[in-house]
Amino acid sequence: MTIIKPADPSALRTFARRQAAVIETAMRRDLAGALTDNDPLLAEVLNYALFGGGKRIRPLLAVLSSRVCGATGEEIYRLAAAFEYLHVATLVHDDVIDHARDRRGRESVARKYGMAAAILAGDWLHARSMHLIGRFAGSRGLDVFCSSTTGMVDGEFLQLRHVADAGMTEEQYFAVIHRKTALLIAATCEIGALHAGAGPEQQAALATYGRKLGAAFQVIDDLLDYLGDASTTGKKTGNDFIEGKVTLPLIHTLAAAEPAAKKRLHELLRGDRAAPGALAVVHRMIEDCHGFESARQTAERLVAEAIDALGLFAETAAPESLSMLGGLALYVLARDR
Ligand code: IPE
Ligand code: IPE
Ligand code: MG
Ligand code: MG
Repeated sequence: MTIIKPADPSALRTFARRQAAVIETAMRRDLAGALTDNDPLLAEVLNYALFGGGKRIRPLLAVLSSRVCGATGEEIYRLAAAFEYLHVATLVHDDVIDHARDRRGRESVARKYGMAAAILAGDWLHARSMHLIGRFAGSRGLDVFCSSTTGMVDGEFLQLRHVADAGMTEEQYFAVIHRKTALLIAATCEIGALHAGAGPEQQAALATYGRKLGAAFQVIDDLLDYLGDASTTGKKTGNDFIEGKVTLPLIHTLAAAEPAAKKRLHELLRGDRAAPGALAVVHRMIEDCHGFESARQTAERLVAEAIDALGLFAETAAPESLSMLGGLALYVLARDR
């Protein structure tokens, strides 16, 4: 049973905007310190990749997780930058894997600067993120962080294995999104707790919150890939189907469809997915089978479970940070970008 009171959307928006500014300052300072005598193109690509968009959800989660465990200092912002670095590294590489041309409302790094720059900038961000984690969260933090990053790679491989696989099960889908998205978000929350000197019970509760939130976050991302407005999400709508990703709305539809419709979906998945009209047909079939609604219900259940995991902090935590963590969980369901 939930006993925490989530922040309302406007309070969360104001808080998140202020925090994002502090996080961005920390990132700019860190870059200025790390890039002293480097090739100017490296600095340009990093600046392009890191600034000018992005919701900064992971660094915000690191800050809030440390605050609910009692940390009050400013060092957390230096640690928080690491989670945005790693996240952006994975986005830069992900856009190569997914052949995505747009990111955060602009050209992807690979499209603007080329494949070599995208690979190298991602590597730089990954290395710098590990440096920061080691420095501000120690070897235990690095353990948690590195198991999330190795898990993410595994998740991407698993996803490739299931390209255009109409037999993909819900369980297999969750194995993919747990690894590629939820592990990093869980690690962010757990390392935030670790940084605050929290005990194992608090660390575990925040890891659970992050894991559930992360899974819901990806389910909603997959819904937005069908239903979102590209000018708001900043990335092309419909790319998942074109790339052959079988996500939850489609899995629910394949399970609910009549045999003839199921056969048609199999053909569409294995055929030319970029053909004019193919996506629209799939979209309609998902609607007919209520695949969007049922995927949303799954996300709602995950968010409720994330909020429940915060119950441990109800008596002890800084009330504002706790209510922001609750509000952030609800935001994941409401978000349109
Ligand atoms: C996109 O993450 C990648 C996923 C895990 C779905 P975000 O939606 O947090 O991307 P930005 O940082 O706001 O651009
Ligand atoms: C999340 O999956 C990718 C990462 C965890 C890096 P997506 O491929 O759905 O993310 P977007 O939609 O490109 O942001
Ligand atoms: Mg992608
Ligand atoms: Mg996506």
